[in-house]
Amino acid sequence: MKFSISSSIFLVAASASAAAVRRQSCGGTPMSSSKALYFLDNNPAGSSIVALKIAEDGTLSDPVRTSTGGSGSIGLTADGPAQIDSLFSQDSVVVSGNNLFTINAGSNTLSHFLISPSNPQNLTLAGDPVPTGGTFPNSVAFSPKLNMVCVLHTGAPSPGVMCFRLDPATNALTPQGCGIVPLPSISSAQTQSPPTGPANTASDILFNPDATALFATVKGNGADSPSGSVFTFPVNPEDGSLGPAVESKPEGLQLEFSMTFLNSSSAVITDPSFGAALVGIEMTTEAGGAVAAGPGPEVKLARRTEIENQTAICWSVYSNSRQEIYISDTGSPDITVLDAGDGSVKRVIAGPEGAVGSLDSVLLGGKLYVLQAASGISVLDVDAAGLGENGEGAAGQVVQSLDLSGLGERSGWMGMAAYRGEEEE
Ligand SMILES: *[C@@H]1O[C@H](CO)[C@@H](O)[C@H](O)[C@H]1NC(C)=O
Ligand SMILES: *[C@@H]1O[C@H](CO)[C@@H](O)[C@H](O)[C@H]1NC(C)=O
Ligand SMILES: *[C@@H]1O[C@H](CO)[C@@H](O)[C@H](O)[C@H]1NC(C)=O
Repeated sequence: MKFSISSSIFLVAASASAAAVRRQSCGGTPMSSSKALYFLDNNPAGSSIVALKIAEDGTLSDPVRTSTGGSGSIGLTADGPAQIDSLFSQDSVVVSGNNLFTINAGSNTLSHFLISPSNPQNLTLAGDPVPTGGTFPNSVAFSPKLNMVCVLHTGAPSPGVMCFRLDPATNALTPQGCGIVPLPSISSAQTQSPPTGPANTASDILFNPDATALFATVKGNGADSPSGSVFTFPVNPEDGSLGPAVESKPEGLQLEFSMTFLNSSSAVITDPSFGAALVGIEMTTEAGGAVAAGPGPEVKLARRTEIENQTAICWSVYSNSRQEIYISDTGSPDITVLDAGDGSVKRVIAGPEGAVGSLDSVLLGGKLYVLQAASGISVLDVDAAGLGENGEGAAGQVVQSLDLSGLGERSGWMGMAAYRGEEEE
């Protein structure tokens, strides 16, 4: 399939089966602004963002496809091209204000879209995609405070980070520093793009909540390098430049996948070898202090939570108001809910059976939107009092299982982000 940069293809979704849809009655005043959900179709023949309408009751409809202006790439596994987790990453699509950023793993570029607030499914490229300086970009971070966009790569010859300054007036993206910064931890560097994973690949890039440091996770190879790494770069408060990276190897972590902050001193890291862990972030200098060339913070294990019978827990979402963490497993439709205070398992939200597995997720208006391993999206009400398998109250229930098989080949679908209108989470 070919797309011209400006064209959007409007598609009609196969409607979710009536049985799977239980609409919630909506009290209160209607939202005054529109909301939309986005994921990436990382497609070697031409990538696109799929934008869905979020109705007032939280249900999804009307997928709209917009070309990213670049091409995707499907990571390799021991069994050939990845069938579901094609980028081995979290945060392949991020939204902040009316900006949407995504990466093109095949053409090695970064795409920046502007979202129309009145019709957030309408995405317009702010400019031509820009080269990211490395191969197989798979995750992106944006700080509105710093006006900085950073891209993580995991193709040959080594993983690395490249940052750009965003000019908010012109939307120009200017490369920062001296080009891509290699992350030298990986014991056996990738020799080709697409890389072979999920072990031995970089996974997630993000800023901490106060944007005093940039973080990047890298999985170990499980063999001669059993522990993975978290790299931290201090942000110089004077000019926003990044200082040299510090490498942490939190004890007991092997395949650091997603990283999600709870607050400036605590985060959750998922690890498909066992589940998830809470980690502490130890700033080595006062936040906002003179850290011109100071070291980045250290990341240390606080609590490791083994999830019984998990297949591969890779993605995570945090709810500040509920003090909960939602982690998803490529091998299960169910979402495990952790207590954000101590990392213990609080409950399990049963997902729709047909979902097969759960990938990138985002929380909005009390609904968790979960990319399925099947060709669809699960909408889970995290507060509803549904019944657990054994009849006990296990709060949370399926609101919708949206079948998107009408959109075609699923293997490249990755990422999940939302335009929130006026809602917080
Ligand atoms: C989408 O937004 C662009 C830029 O604001 C505008 O020119 C265009 O008419 C919009 N298209 C639709 C279908 O709303
Ligand atoms: C894990 O699997 C075993 C064997 O199938 C089963 O007995 C046990 O209840 C499962 N545990 C959980 C938490 O699902
Ligand atoms: C950050 O979150 C952790 C884990 O929930 C908690 O123990 C800690 O008190 C929090 N710190 C702050 C400063 O809120």
